[in-house]
Amino acid sequence: MTPNDRSGSVALVTGGTGGIGKETARALAERGASVVVVGIDRERGLRAVQDIRDSAGHDRVHAVSADVTTLDGLRRLAEAVGERHDRLDVLVNNVGVNLPARTLTADGVERMFAAHVLAPFTLTHLLLPLLERAPAARVVNLTGGIPGGPIDPGNLLGERRYLGWTFSHYNHTKTMTMAMTHRLAARLRGSGVTANVVYPGHGHTPMNRATPLRAFPIAYRPIAPLVLKVIAPLFLSDLTRSARSSVYAATSPDLDGVSGAYVDGRCRRRPLPAPALDPAAQEAVWELCVRLSAPVLGGVSPA
Ligand SMILES: NC(=O)c1ccc[n+]([C@@H]2O[C@H](COP(=O)([O-])OP(=O)(O)OC[C@H]3O[C@@H](n4cnc5c(N)ncnc54)[C@H](OP(=O)(O)O)[C@@H]3O)[C@@H](O)[C@H]2O)c1
Repeated sequence: MTPNDRSGSVALVTGGTGGIGKETARALAERGASVVVVGIDRERGLRAVQDIRDSAGHDRVHAVSADVTTLDGLRRLAEAVGERHDRLDVLVNNVGVNLPARTLTADGVERMFAAHVLAPFTLTHLLLPLLERAPAARVVNLTGGIPGGPIDPGNLLGERRYLGWTFSHYNHTKTMTMAMTHRLAARLRGSGVTANVVYPGHGHTPMNRATPLRAFPIAYRPIAPLVLKVIAPLFLSDLTRSARSSVYAATSPDLDGVSGAYVDGRCRRRPLPAPALDPAAQEAVWELCVRLSAPVLGGVSPA
């Protein structure tokens, strides 16, 4: 099988029914993989399946509707995947959200932490039996571009301080994605499953289109409408570019056996930012994930 031929492999992309995730799913399906795309809206899911099948020229593309920010959604998603597939070669934890105000999921978990940290942690563990059945499975977790400074173990859920639209908590949780992934890679050593983190680069997606003026630093606000309405649609609408780093991390032989690495928007390996490598911060994030996922995982042995 050449790097571009993924026939016989199975991939799952969360947020694969829209934005960057959909282009990631399309690229994997075009290489012959069977692909499961996950979104919330059933109709959008069905349309995405048809669109990706048309591009890929095969019908091994299916949608599962599930809210990955809830434990119940993750449990049902894993069950649905297990009913259709007996192995999983690629898991792309792609869902990202940026929320102006602090909100909690049905499990009582702050929603950006749930989407960016708890969901990749829990889904990977729920699907581990399937991942371990593939010859060399890869987990790909998506991060944001701006490291969010040090991880604050006293504010992991934005309980003390939550700055929504300034991307502050968004960046904080994305740094936690990196910390959790680095720790996950260590835990998976010897299992044949690797876990890496990628930055997609900017793409003009539904998430970005919804960015209001107040999300921009004050100095940039006068030019923000130009950026959002003219520059971004002109230069950032080709989401195949934004999907490149996820596809690279999911398929490139350059990353055979590589785990715990960071891949930037140009598919280059870069060091993880220092805050993501802080052992105390990693421990705090990991412990919180273990505790919050306990209702579905029943506990996870130490990494
Ligand atoms: N766009 C950028 O410039 C940029 C930059 C840096 C990093 N990123 C990261 O790249 C990833 C993809 O970003 P994007 O801009 O493509 O996002 P997006 O356009 O908002 O993604 C939309 C997709 O995510 C699904 N989705 C949203 N919330 C979900 C949930 N709770 N459960 C299941 N599916 C859900 C949507 O399904 P429905 O349509 O059914 O709701 C749709 O399939 C994110 O992790 C983001 O943080 C993006």
